[in-house]
Amino acid sequence: MPKLYQPEAFAVPDGIYLDGNSLGLMPHAAKQAVERRLNEWATQAVVGWDEWFGLSESLSPQLARLAGARPEEVIATGSITANLHALLATFYRPQGQRRHLLATALDFPTDLYALRSWADREGAELRLIPSRDGHTLHPDDIAAAITDEIAIVLLPTVLYRSGQLLDVARWTAAAHQQGCLIGWDAAHSMGAVPHQFHDDGADFAVWCSYKYLNAGPGAPGGLYVHERHAGVLPGLRGWWGNDKTSQFQMDNEYRRAGDAGAYQLGTPPVLSLAALEGALEVYRGVDPEELRARSLELTDLLLALAEEQLPEMQVITPRPAAERGGHVSLQWQHNRQVSLALRARRIIPDYREPGILRLAPIPFYNNEDDVRGVVQAMREIIDSREYEAAGEGSAVS
Ligand SMILES: Cc1ncc(COP(=O)(O)O)c(C=O)c1O
Repeated sequence: MPKLYQPEAFAVPDGIYLDGNSLGLMPHAAKQAVERRLNEWATQAVVGWDEWFGLSESLSPQLARLAGARPEEVIATGSITANLHALLATFYRPQGQRRHLLATALDFPTDLYALRSWADREGAELRLIPSRDGHTLHPDDIAAAITDEIAIVLLPTVLYRSGQLLDVARWTAAAHQQGCLIGWDAAHSMGAVPHQFHDDGADFAVWCSYKYLNAGPGAPGGLYVHERHAGVLPGLRGWWGNDKTSQFQMDNEYRRAGDAGAYQLGTPPVLSLAALEGALEVYRGVDPEELRARSLELTDLLLALAEEQLPEMQVITPRPAAERGGHVSLQWQHNRQVSLALRARRIIPDYREPGILRLAPIPFYNNEDDVRGVVQAMREIIDSREYEAAGEGSAVS
């Protein structure tokens, strides 16, 4: 079993990096894998496709371990947004009064854009589970919103701002009890929180791989579809979703791949897949439960220090370990400037409006010194009013 803490396996910038929940650091293995594939392109040209042809499928066993799924139920492909559209095109089948879509008021906007485009097509409603405190969801509100008028429920495993972790087994069972299908956006949990999507019975899930999976900016994401749907014809079809053995027969007849590869559309981005291929090496042999336990140790410390030393900040992440993911979120009206002042000190946090600093200590390359360092720096920045001198900063990251 390799040790979890292995900063030497990553390109770690000077300072403290706590933004692995937005863009994970580059594993050297990712760079090596891209270089290897580039070299194949240089030396083999089109003959390289003999190997690249099955590259996405070759990553399924490793992704399946992290998703708690069977290898045939997952595939590395697309982006969260594109995969959501592909899955809604397949599974959103409004019938009679069961026609509406359900998400949450706290979802990442792209999920809502995707869902609303399907609601609009059908003249249906996109219903949103409200939040009482603007940060988290109350179980009673989730339960009340799941009714027999809902065709599909989409929930985030971890809420992107507050970091609240939802119980996949519980809400999957609740959705099924009401006759709804349920999908999960696992952007903020894949690679950070162990999943059992198959045993929990979730219908589908989507994720990206540029966050905790460390596969680089714009790396292909992934999806999971429970094997009970294995025969369903994808609502969006392309030649890469054809059965591999007949894909190159070119006889104009689509034969669905037997596995989740059926949801692929066109030619995969081999060079970015190579980065994912290399990045997943970091996870090889790592026990997801052990990774999670270490992540909780670091976020426990961060929560304790923040509560003790940063009283002006509101901790908007739920305290119980079973209710939070891999990051801790602190809200304060001046946090945009605090985040810029931290960057000026080579400490990289993550910032989201309104006033939310997200901090994610990653067990692979962060330790207690980083956690203590960021809290101490924030105390100094506030006490010295250093943050008041910070400018507007970037609107992007
Ligand atoms: C919860 C969640 N969903 C979706 C996305 C983005 O989707 P995509 O990968 O399609 O850009 C993000 C990006 O941070 C996210 O946090």
